[in-house]
Amino acid sequence: MKVGVLSGGGDAPGINAVVRAVVKKGIQNYRYEFVGIIDGWAGLAKEEYMPLGLKEVSDILPKGGSILGSSRTNPFKKEKGPEEVVRNAKKAGIGAVVAIGGDDTLGVAHKLKEFGLKCVGVPKTIDNDLPGTDYTFGFMTAVGIATEALDRLHTTAETHHRILVLEVMGRYTGWIALEAGLAGGADVILIPEKPFDIEEVCEYIKKRQKRGENFSVIIVAEGAKPKSGAEIVQNESVDQFGNTRLGGIGHYLSKEIEKRMKIETRAVVLGHLQRGGSPTAFDRILCTRFGVAAIDLVHEGKFDYMVALKGNKIVSVSLEDIIGKRKTVDLRLYDEASVFFG
Ligand code: F6P
Repeated sequence: MKVGVLSGGGDAPGINAVVRAVVKKGIQNYRYEFVGIIDGWAGLAKEEYMPLGLKEVSDILPKGGSILGSSRTNPFKKEKGPEEVVRNAKKAGIGAVVAIGGDDTLGVAHKLKEFGLKCVGVPKTIDNDLPGTDYTFGFMTAVGIATEALDRLHTTAETHHRILVLEVMGRYTGWIALEAGLAGGADVILIPEKPFDIEEVCEYIKKRQKRGENFSVIIVAEGAKPKSGAEIVQNESVDQFGNTRLGGIGHYLSKEIEKRMKIETRAVVLGHLQRGGSPTAFDRILCTRFGVAAIDLVHEGKFDYMVALKGNKIVSVSLEDIIGKRKTVDLRLYDEASVFFG
């Protein structure tokens, strides 16, 4: 059988490690043939493919980004788009697709089942917001980068007696902010799941001042919002899946804090630094295990499922059960983190 492999949505460290594992096990154990589908679902719509054999996947384990490219193309946004994708897959002799993506990409994979395409999913997103899996891959790498940023901000904040606000990604969930905030000892962590009160944030800073700590480091998720308002969007335009571009909360916060506290406050937006570059050892191992399990699912004919991590085991989860749902932060973890606020 010929298997197509694609990555869709925002990239995440570890995509190449998944591709390597899928192809290596598929060729060695099942004698499958592979084809790389370029730029996610766009590749099937435009019939853009690349060779994908042992040579192409050698040495890509630590490489960031995706050798297959990625896009936020949604075939369901085009009239007869799904039919076109399935027709092209057939024409290219593709019998099954391994789709590496988050809710949007896997949602398309799930809906294409009705049109006759057989897909297996691999949960990818630095946001960690997909249900059914303890972790999505790429998340731990992003947390590591955000933690290092916090460490660096701490030393300069202390030296200059400033308040520094680090804005991280995560879309509508605060996983990156919360786990990096815990690891990096942030003085306040703000997440979308817990709308904040700016006065309360200032109280934490004052509490530190009373102890003689004349600097603070705050981490805020891009989707965090004040109790009285909505999340801040960079512009009103949406992508093909209806996602707006979040961002700006860090600058908003620093302005509001400076106004109230009269202490120099600056914002740092971590941006795509937390998405680019090599995966950590944790993500390399997770991706390798995900890839091996994904091609096993193809071999078992278990389509419309994604691989997932449960405890230390790799399991399979029906896409039907998770698509359109969001895994938000466990507020008990937030309570644990709040012990260290202020
Ligand atoms: O979903 C991953 C993610 O990095 C989000 O955290 C972020 O909101 C979004 O993608 C940014 O996407 P883009 O790079 O397309 O602006």
